[in-house]
Amino acid sequence: MLHSNSSVLLLLLLLQLSLTWRPSTGAALPARALGAEQCQRCSLLFRSLLDDVTELLKHKDVVCFGIKSVTPVVANVSDTVLACAPSQTQNSGCMMRRDSPFSQTECLANIKKDLDHYAATFESYLNTQLRNRTQEVPLLSPTLEQIKSLRKNCFPIPTEVPDSSKEEAASKWGGNNYENRKEMCKIIDGFYSRTITINRAMGYIASGEHRE
Ligand SMILES: *[C@@H]1O[C@H](CO)[C@@H](O)[C@H](O)[C@H]1NC(C)=O
Ligand SMILES: *[C@@H]1O[C@H](CO)[C@@H](O)[C@H](O)[C@H]1NC(C)=O
Repeated sequence: MLHSNSSVLLLLLLLQLSLTWRPSTGAALPARALGAEQCQRCSLLFRSLLDDVTELLKHKDVVCFGIKSVTPVVANVSDTVLACAPSQTQNSGCMMRRDSPFSQTECLANIKKDLDHYAATFESYLNTQLRNRTQEVPLLSPTLEQIKSLRKNCFPIPTEVPDSSKEEAASKWGGNNYENRKEMCKIIDGFYSRTITINRAMGYIASGEHRE
């Protein structure tokens, strides 16, 4: 089962790569350099995501009720921080080092992995036994919808969140709702910092600086 899933994933990956390498322009393809217009639109959508997550953070007590300060957990399903760091020669000082030139395709592919991961995480969390559904669903749903909208508009293939992401996400929730909320509480903090990273990367891509 696992094996056949990975084969399908590999096939999709190869398909994506072959599409990526196709020199034509036009239709939106996954993890491929974005056209100027799509790039602007996606930058705006990621900006709205940051607004949503900022709002979510303000009210995170609904999820984090009764939980002392937690260490943020950032998804390690991707290498977004490294892959989306500007090339070393193009900046000075504090940014993360990278030895290879900036690859928009690689950066976007990692952002896509983040979106899959967080869509699955939010969705599966909302399917657990929540402490107060009336409060938690309206709090988390706008962010989930924004993530889904980004997947659909900026990374249309594959249309569905992969099963592997869903399975990985579902495996986080086993405990009682206190443990689940504690985990989600860390994830919300981590997601906020990942969203900032992604927005920086989109700003960098949209500016066209990496092409100079
Ligand atoms: C992500 O982190 C978890 C917990 O630290 C670890 O168990 C897992 O192997 C890591 N996954 C990857 C892909 O590095
Ligand atoms: C859930 O939250 C709502 C809104 O704050 C509140 O009115 C309701 O009593 C809560 N329900 C439970 C089961 O705690």
